[in-house]
Amino acid sequence: MPEPTPSAGAIPSPEADILAALGTRLVVLVGMMGAGKSTIGRRLAARLHVPFLDADIEIEAAAGMTIPEIFETHGEPHFRDGEARVIARLLESGPAVLATGGGSFMREETRRRVNDKAISIWLKADADIIMRRVKRRADRPLLQTADPVATVGRLIDEREPVYRHADLTIASRDVPHEKIVEECIEALHGRLCGEVAPPEAAAGIMGGLR
Ligand code: S3P
Repeated sequence: MPEPTPSAGAIPSPEADILAALGTRLVVLVGMMGAGKSTIGRRLAARLHVPFLDADIEIEAAAGMTIPEIFETHGEPHFRDGEARVIARLLESGPAVLATGGGSFMREETRRRVNDKAISIWLKADADIIMRRVKRRADRPLLQTADPVATVGRLIDEREPVYRHADLTIASRDVPHEKIVEECIEALHGRLCGEVAPPEAAAGIMGGLR
């Protein structure tokens, strides 16, 4: 009797291993504006065959206005409260990949929830890359200042010590998106499935696997 052919879903792959190990947890991307959380998150979700969720888009849908409008009408503290509530709700819908807004991980309660419900990846980008990417769009209220370069520098200084609490760190840089996605897959696999990433992947993984 010939051996039964395994179905496509049963073929072992790092993605399938990650999905099995995740269970109902999410992969949450944190980091500065312009770090590529949405771009990488969408592609990572496609690779893992799970839904992609974008906290900023969900906040706008819940509020019925854009983020600049929320800041202008109600102020940043109101935005932050809504952001924390929306992220708490989204964290109940795993497995999925969730891109969070750059300031959300600064809230202790959100970090605790992410830690409970997800594996977090900090997409770490330097100031030059962030500035290059964010200057194309005027939809970040926090950067509508006289000196956006100084603002980004200050935010990086304030936030990096907190982003460091993410489970994994990947360097976001000007390489093809698929390379960063591959590094996320390898880091997730190492973290969740107990294997050390091959050397070429480890080069892009900063801060190691904690
Ligand atoms: C913010 C980042 C934005 C958005 C809001 C505030 C921040 O999201 O949530 O403008 O505080 O860094 P992205 O990180 O997706 O740009």
